Amino acid sequence: MSTDRDIKSTPRGFHCILCDVKLPNLPSLDQHVKGKKHQTLSTVRATRQSQAERGVFVTGVKPDTSEADLADYFQRFGEVAHIVLDKDKVRLKSESLTGQFAIVHFAEPETVQAALSCVEHRMKNLKLKVKPREKKAFKFIHKQKLDPQNLQQVFEQLKPELGELLSVDAQMQFVVERFQLRENEKKARSLFVQLLQEVFVEFFPDSQILPFGSSVNTFGIHACDLDLFLDLENTKMFQARAKSSTEQTGEGMSDDGRSEDSILSDIDLSSASSAEVLELVATILKRCVPSVQRVHVVSTARLPVVKFHHRELNLQGDITINNKLAVRNTRFLQLCTGMENRLRPLVFTIRCWAKQKQLAGNPSGAGPLLNNYALTLLVIFYLQNCDPPVLPTVNHLKDMACEEEECVIEGWNCTFPTQPIAVPPSTNTQNLSTLLAGFFSFYASFDFTSSVISLREGRAIPITDFLCQDEESDMIQDEGPIKAHPTKPKLGPLNLLDPFEVSHNVAANLNERSHRSFQRECQEAHKYCRSLQYQQKSTKGKLWGLVRLLTPQGENSQTRAEQTSISIPFKLASLPETLREQLQTSGEDFWHLWFHKVCSAVEEVLTHVLKCQLTASPCAVFADDSTVAAEEMETSSASLKSSVNDSFDSVGSQSESSPLKPVVGGKRPLSSGSDASVSPQGKKQRLLKKKAKAQLPPWICVLQHLVWAGRRKVRRELMKNTNSQPEGSCLEIESQVTAYIIEKEPELKEPLEFKVLPQMMGGTESTQTVLRLEPVSDRTGVFQDFFHFLHPFLPRMVETLLGKDEGNEK
Ligand code: UTP
Repeated sequence: MSTDRDIKSTPRGFHCILCDVKLPNLPSLDQHVKGKKHQTLSTVRATRQSQAERGVFVTGVKPDTSEADLADYFQRFGEVAHIVLDKDKVRLKSESLTGQFAIVHFAEPETVQAALSCVEHRMKNLKLKVKPREKKAFKFIHKQKLDPQNLQQVFEQLKPELGELLSVDAQMQFVVERFQLRENEKKARSLFVQLLQEVFVEFFPDSQILPFGSSVNTFGIHACDLDLFLDLENTKMFQARAKSSTEQTGEGMSDDGRSEDSILSDIDLSSASSAEVLELVATILKRCVPSVQRVHVVSTARLPVVKFHHRELNLQGDITINNKLAVRNTRFLQLCTGMENRLRPLVFTIRCWAKQKQLAGNPSGAGPLLNNYALTLLVIFYLQNCDPPVLPTVNHLKDMACEEEECVIEGWNCTFPTQPIAVPPSTNTQNLSTLLAGFFSFYASFDFTSSVISLREGRAIPITDFLCQDEESDMIQDEGPIKAHPTKPKLGPLNLLDPFEVSHNVAANLNERSHRSFQRECQEAHKYCRSLQYQQKSTKGKLWGLVRLLTPQGENSQTRAEQTSISIPFKLASLPETLREQLQTSGEDFWHLWFHKVCSAVEEVLTHVLKCQLTASPCAVFADDSTVAAEEMETSSASLKSSVNDSFDSVGSQSESSPLKPVVGGKRPLSSGSDASVSPQGKKQRLLKKKAKAQLPPWICVLQHLVWAGRRKVRRELMKNTNSQPEGSCLEIESQVTAYIIEKEPELKEPLEFKVLPQMMGGTESTQTVLRLEPVSDRTGVFQDFFHFLHPFLPRMVETLLGKDEGNEK
């Protein structure tokens, strides 16, 4: 471990205080310390310290004092190296420092003492005060990302007023009032859109510029960005007409008399790429729209976009071209607000909470956090699932629409009533405070990884069923696409289908970490909402209700157990086809099968990759039905036992080489009557109401060597002549690395003994295997280091093992 005073050991790894960077393990720490940022900051700090030792702080200078005057005066004490003269800054904090000041740096540190020991400094009729320089600890200050909405600051100001209100409902309404887009902002935006329309129509006849997103969806907050869709459909038709009339008449004029050497003559809209058209849009913006600056095309986004900034309005804007669906889903959000007036305060509050907890709002547009659209859909989905529902499902809305309201965009059915009045009001009468608490409770115990959220159907579809649906695309065609579409969304830890473009997972950008944070914060909020501090105004002036809920928090909410736990999330999409099929045929009981696969892989990593000696293993008790400490392991399918055994048998060598002989058992007897061949769609979907939790006895492991230290170097060494592979991606190589370390490095003075307790979670939270690690004997104090290594390594290795095509296994 590094003894560097800049590095602090933390429960989750290391913290480089100098660079304010968190590192998960020793190898990454090592890399960081050798890296550019750390090296540069170390040098800057050394230079600053050396300057501070050689400098004096001088006050009493006047605006007309020059550097030459100062150099001339201070030379008498020793060589002057450098002078910083600050004539503008007025220091008000300390009386003695009021006025202009200078810092004089000498070539030698000894000169400082000479200057300081002089009782009176008189320079050209000025009486100067000379002091030693303040010894400030060097601190790296992150450049703050510009956040025009600056929620934290606004919220800090609002805290006292919020605390004074009498109920959480009133606080939520207050949040809307204070954060919503002001009328003057709306007006200014609308005028700007009109101006753009006038400009664009000059270049793209019959085009239309349409706002969508937060500016117009009723959830916009002060200074939110302006999303625009430039609809060129009519322009394309115009161009086609003009082309054919030119061909017929042979003249260079279009049918409405516009000259053919307009911008349109440079580009054929029917064949041009989005990037080409957007380049043109960017040029028009730059040249023809006043006050527009920082115009650039981002062609790598899912939907390529032109970004710009409006100076006077201090407004960030985006223009897209193929985005009719966004205009339509904006209409849908407007309709939801019109149908249900509790939606806005809920969405505003939840957006505010998510931003404060750093769960939503990717600063640069891209990133692993939820976007605001996805967050809003999560609120709507929750309201569809309240009892009684607050909002209807999208399919119900479709049925309520009349013939004229039918709408299909790019093959997706986007039909819903135009007017909220067409939708019967909800019979749910819960107040805002209860609904807000309900939102947190709903998602605190939601199994995200094993389900797909569908607002169309208003339910969470078990992921195994969903994948079967995909294969039978006609099922989806009924609800969604009328023409062929790629029907499989990109699955991830949180699967939230767009209500119209149902092949798009609007939360596909989330990673394991951001998804876990979201659920953890929901759990924290849920706990808080059950307390009196949430429900009742404090009589002692303490923070209560929303004030506490919306207060940003660091990572202090982590429990001790989480600090030494490793989570292996359920990722169906990354499993090989054979295993997916086995899981699919296991229906609701896929949890147990997957858990045993994971345990088997963990044991493989511990024994074969890291060469741990096992003195106890859960495998020993797998074979004994009765000792499996499965809590509430409800098994509704009689086929489970056989399907699990079958699937493990098919693993072949893996199950033979491992002492793990899985026989799934539970406290409760298996019910009879269902058939393994019944497809999951045929089964009753009770996935979300089920609690799947199982805990097995631990592995007790002994390690004689520091098998985690210096792995990267050894791997590089071993793979000199082959293509390098990332850490944890190859069983063979990782085993060789360990063997090499064991051969070359001395044994630990005292072996490390630790236990690993496997636990399966699911049903009432995201499906995952959680491994709790605890040292049993750690006299050399290496357990934390080992844990930091294992934290990323083990999930990667397990994923590699599970991802192997079983047919190809040795
Ligand atoms: P945002 O996530 O930016 O939402 O998506 P927002 O409400 O405008 O919030 P701000 O801008 O962060 O304040 C903008 C719009 O883009 C479309 C939706 O119409 C959404 O309202 N969108 C976004 C999609 O259609 N699909 C997506 O996956 C994301």
